[in-house]
Amino acid sequence: MLYFLNYLTLFSMNFKLTEEHIMIRDAARDFAKSELLPGVIERDNKQEFPTQQIKMMGEMGFLGMMVDPKYGGGGMDTLSYVLAMEELSKIDASASVIMSVNNSLVCYGLEKYANEDQKQKYLIELATGKKLGAFCLSEPEAGSDATSQKTTAIDKGDHYLLNGTKNWITNGGSADYYIVIAQTDKEKKHKGINAFIVEKSWDGFEIGAKEDKLGIRGSDTHSLMFNDVKVPKENRIGEEGFGFPFAMKTLSGGRIGIAAQALGIAAGAYELARDYSKVRKSFGTEICNHQAIAFKLADMHTNIEAARMLVYKSAWDKDQGNNYDMSSAMAKVFASQVAMDVTVEAIQVHGGNGYVKDYHVERLMRDAKITQIYEGTSEIQKIVISRGLLKD
Ligand code: CAA
Repeated sequence: MLYFLNYLTLFSMNFKLTEEHIMIRDAARDFAKSELLPGVIERDNKQEFPTQQIKMMGEMGFLGMMVDPKYGGGGMDTLSYVLAMEELSKIDASASVIMSVNNSLVCYGLEKYANEDQKQKYLIELATGKKLGAFCLSEPEAGSDATSQKTTAIDKGDHYLLNGTKNWITNGGSADYYIVIAQTDKEKKHKGINAFIVEKSWDGFEIGAKEDKLGIRGSDTHSLMFNDVKVPKENRIGEEGFGFPFAMKTLSGGRIGIAAQALGIAAGAYELARDYSKVRKSFGTEICNHQAIAFKLADMHTNIEAARMLVYKSAWDKDQGNNYDMSSAMAKVFASQVAMDVTVEAIQVHGGNGYVKDYHVERLMRDAKITQIYEGTSEIQKIVISRGLLKD
């Protein structure tokens, strides 16, 4: 009987994308080539936010892909989102992280856990790209150790009083709405944490200087300061004390997006290396004819395929309603390592050309590094994986 079931399971696996998935992937690929590629080097140099491109991405539905159409989203599955993230990240990982935060951390968090009034007021504008969102968890002393929140939200009856500083916030300066995680009752530790929707225009909310980063330089990363910001009670997400599970559950989905970003960065660098190796000649032949280069391409491609399986599997887990804490952590830790390895090798294949900006691979290498850091470092992913393995 067991053999029979295994047989059925094996043959129910399907590695073929649907026509809809192919359409979405191709639309993202075309958009990336026509709208993101021109100017990507200049935006990286100048640390310039891709304002026009993000506006277009909102109009095309890339900023709220998985949100129910009744809240202005595309109603698509997680695999569609991953395919789009992968294509955009091949060319511009700054644009794709802006998209990832809005989709996975902000829209998903609101659709799943906010109440109907909050969805009507905030989610629709965010999913349609009319407004942009940011997710504020990290602090100067609470990056990986997320339970140690120093930002406080003190209950004052009809409102909370928010005080503290958040660090390294993607979309920090460009967002309109911010999901802010803060400590309400220190005694209760992680059970005393809440999540709030905060508007940029509120008194006491200050945006700090923009970080000068190694990679994803087109995205804007800021510290945010909250000085006696009055947050109405109705802007708390979920029940009192729900902030920590809210952040953890939302981040698990975010990790699928970042894993897809890492996959795209790796795939983009591989494609550039492959194409370059077919035209660049040395010792009387195209360099792809040297095994030293051909073996590099074989290793890069094999690792990218392995990463792709983990990323797609995690997206599938989420769509099936399976727990995806572990699969998203595995996808992220593996894909981000592949992104680092492949981008370094892509520079090597390009030789001296790989070390200069015009050939794109050096930027992809700089962009790859952040995928091992944000939305949980690789070490954090290994904590999540090992705890998952050992919990029963
Ligand atoms: N879903 C639901 N609940 C969860 C959970 C999950 N995935 N993970 C943990 N919890 C719950 C636990 O069940 C526990 O609750 P109980 O006590 O009621 O059982 C509670 O949360 C505390 O859990 P832990 O004891 O496991 O907490 P910990 O302090 O050991 O930390 C951690 C766990 C995995 C290390 C976590 O702190 C973590 O993920 N840290 C990394 C945070 C992170 O990703 N930061 C990135 C910032 S966001 C960002 O980068 C955005 C951007 O701008 C791009």
